[in-house]
This record gives sequence, structure tokens and C-alpha cells, in this order.
Amino acid sequence: MMATSEPLGAAAAGPQRTEHLSSDPVGVAVIGGGTISRLHLDAYRANPDARLVTVCDIDADRARDTAAQYGAPRWTTSYEEVLADDEVTAISICTRNDTHAVIAAAALDAGKAVLVEKPLGRTSAEAQLVVDAQERSGLVAQVGFVRRFSPNAVVLKEFIEAGDLGALYYATARNLRRAGNPGGWFADKEVSGGGPLVDVGVHFIDIAWWLLGTPEVATVSGFTADRLGDRDNLRHLSRYRSADAGTSASTVEDLAGGLVRFTNGAVLSLEVSYSLHGRDDVGVKVYGDRGGAELEPELRISTEAHDTILEVTPQIDSLTFDMSAFDAEIGAFVAAVRGEGPRLAPVQDGLTVARIIEAIYASAERGREIEL
Ligand SMILES: NC(=O)c1ccc[n+]([C@@H]2O[C@H](COP(=O)([O-])OP(=O)(O)OC[C@H]3O[C@@H](n4cnc5c(N)ncnc54)[C@H](O)[C@@H]3O)[C@@H](O)[C@H]2O)c1
Repeated sequence: MMATSEPLGAAAAGPQRTEHLSSDPVGVAVIGGGTISRLHLDAYRANPDARLVTVCDIDADRARDTAAQYGAPRWTTSYEEVLADDEVTAISICTRNDTHAVIAAAALDAGKAVLVEKPLGRTSAEAQLVVDAQERSGLVAQVGFVRRFSPNAVVLKEFIEAGDLGALYYATARNLRRAGNPGGWFADKEVSGGGPLVDVGVHFIDIAWWLLGTPEVATVSGFTADRLGDRDNLRHLSRYRSADAGTSASTVEDLAGGLVRFTNGAVLSLEVSYSLHGRDDVGVKVYGDRGGAELEPELRISTEAHDTILEVTPQIDSLTFDMSAFDAEIGAFVAAVRGEGPRLAPVQDGLTVARIIEAIYASAERGREIEL
């Protein structure tokens, strides 16, 4: 086994214990066999350092079929059974938002490393449960901030860390969807914890905050709007809808946004929507005193040299978010479990983002800025 390399942001990643002390592939379980689990399962299947042991879903047919499709020797409808399985070292948690924290904390307490899909919890209290369990166990606990692993983000982060953009002082993150409410459990605040802010905002807050260098949060001012609902009336427009969409009214916000001030003086401006009369609009941008960059919709870097403004377009396969990020995310998780790579996207970062989201909701409700 290789020596554990010094992780990036080690202090934030909590105490460390390496769980896999063998050169054999890591025994893996996937809990929750819905849409996103396919990307986890495909990535594990392609990874020679991982071996799928079992698939768990409360829907027995889904668990059985998925296990058969991916060649897992076992399946179950009980996550407790997965936690008791000695062959399982690491677990992807791909269930709905209401069960992420409880399953992740129990898994860590049972001695299993976890990759928890976003959001880490519906609330910061739930996210804290996972962080506490990581700190008790020292095990690898990664949150599904997959955008950090997209090649365009990896490239931009390298430029930022090399100082090419100077000190970053402003970031904007926007994902406006005009008809993007998936309905079903996503639209049920009890299960999801919130609407576009929890579902999409969690990614966009994280990627901008990560590019800024994960500064400490000082204050948050937020707003929400709830005017259009899930636009179930729309015709002649294909869009992603959850399996049980249209069975009940949406109880989540249509639009949310806010301004996050950091203790180093940097500011992040955010806006996300599920439903809005306007065109879809995605953008992640950072601005520093030597240069700026757009990560989305396409990576480009703006700078100045010899009193001349330069627009630089890196020559890479994909300038926008690339689905290969899921393979990279899971590759990093498996490597960390084997003690062969840094701990990227630790659950401690999932907790910070959960606190920002909660403060946006609190600020929107109270109509004033919140100090963290
Ligand atoms: N990283 C990303 O970009 C990304 C994209 C989509 C979804 N997600 C996240 O992934 C999670 C799942 O989303 P989805 O679209 O796959 O949802 P989904 O509804 O398609 O799948 C969820 C699955 O979990 C199962 N399940 C629920 N409770 C369970 C339990 N206690 N034990 C075992 N199985 C259980 C359900 O039966 C279902 O099969 C969500 O939290 C979502 O936010 C992340």
C-alpha cells in the first residue's frame, strides 16, 4: 500500500484513518438504485480498484434488477444489512435527500467510508450529524460535489492556485431554469429540504465557494419566490420529470438567491430557479485583481498583459461541465479509501454549504441579513 499523501485542505477534512489496508479492490455498496446511482455504478464498474458487493433499494425489484445488471453478488432492501456486511468497505449513498444524513452517519459509525450524494442533509443539523460521525471515526466521508471534478473546473482551479488571477474578490453563480421543477419528491419540501436552492444551488454555491478558496462565511442575505409552482400545465415541451411527478402540488420555492460575504472580503452572488418566465441561463464566474474567469457556460480566462486585455480559451476536450466528472469523483473516493489520494470534497464542506443554504432561507423569511 502506498503512503497516505497529504490531503488538500487536510484541516477541514477532519481526523483521518485509512480503512482499506489491502491491495485487493475495495468492496463497494450502492444504497439507492434510482437515476443518479447509474453514474456511480458505471464508475465503480470501470474502476479496477473497486468491486461492487451489493445494491440496496427499498424497492426490491429495483435492487434485484440493478444488482443483476451490474454483476453484484448480493442485493437487499435494508441499508442496515449493508452496514453489517463485512465485505463492504465503502458506500455510495444515492437515496433521496431525507435519508442522506441518517444513513451516512450510521455507515460511518459501522466503520464504512461514505460518498454521500448532495445535499449532505436537508438542514445544517442533519449535515452536522455526518460531520460528527466522520470526526468520531476518522474515515473517508465525501459529499457529492461532482462539479469540482469536471475537467474545466480542475483546469481553472490550477490557474487560480498558481496565482494567475491574483486575489479573488467576487464570484457569481447562476442556474436559472424556466421549467426545471422535476415534481415528485423533489417538489416535496419535507423530503427534499427545499427547491432549486437545495437541489441545484448546492452545486453552484459549492463550486463558486471552492474556486474562491473556501473562505470563511461572514454574512448571508437571501430571497426566495414562489409564484409559478411546477408548471405542470406546460405542453409540447420535453423536460425531466420525476417518476411520481404531478401527483401533488409543489411545496418548494420557484426562485432563490442571495449574497454571501466572506471574512476575507470576497462576495458571492447567487441565483437559481426551477420555474421562471425567462430563458434558461447558467453561469459561474470569478473575478480577481489580476484576471477573471468564466467556468460556465464555457471556460475562458480574461486577463491583461502589456496594457492589453486578453481573452484566453484553454484548449481542452470540454469547456463546460463534463459527465466524466462522475468517474473522476468516484475515482478520487476509491483512491482516498485506499489511502492513495487526498480527501477531496470532505463532508465538512457539505456542512458549510448547508449552513449557507439555511441562512438564505432564514434571511428570506426574516427579510434581513444573517450573521453566521
Ligand atoms: N450529483 C448530481 O449532480 C446529482 C444529480 C441527480 C441527483 N442527485 C442526488 O441523488 C439523490 C438521488 O436522486 P435520484 O434522482 O437518483 O432520485 P430517485 O428517486 O431516482 O432515486 C432514489 C432511490 O432511492 C431509493 N430509496 C429511498 N429511500 C431509501 C432507503 N431508505 N434505502 C434504500 N433506498 C432508498 C428509492 O427507492 C429510489 O430508487 C438525491 O439526493 C439527489 O439530490 C445528484
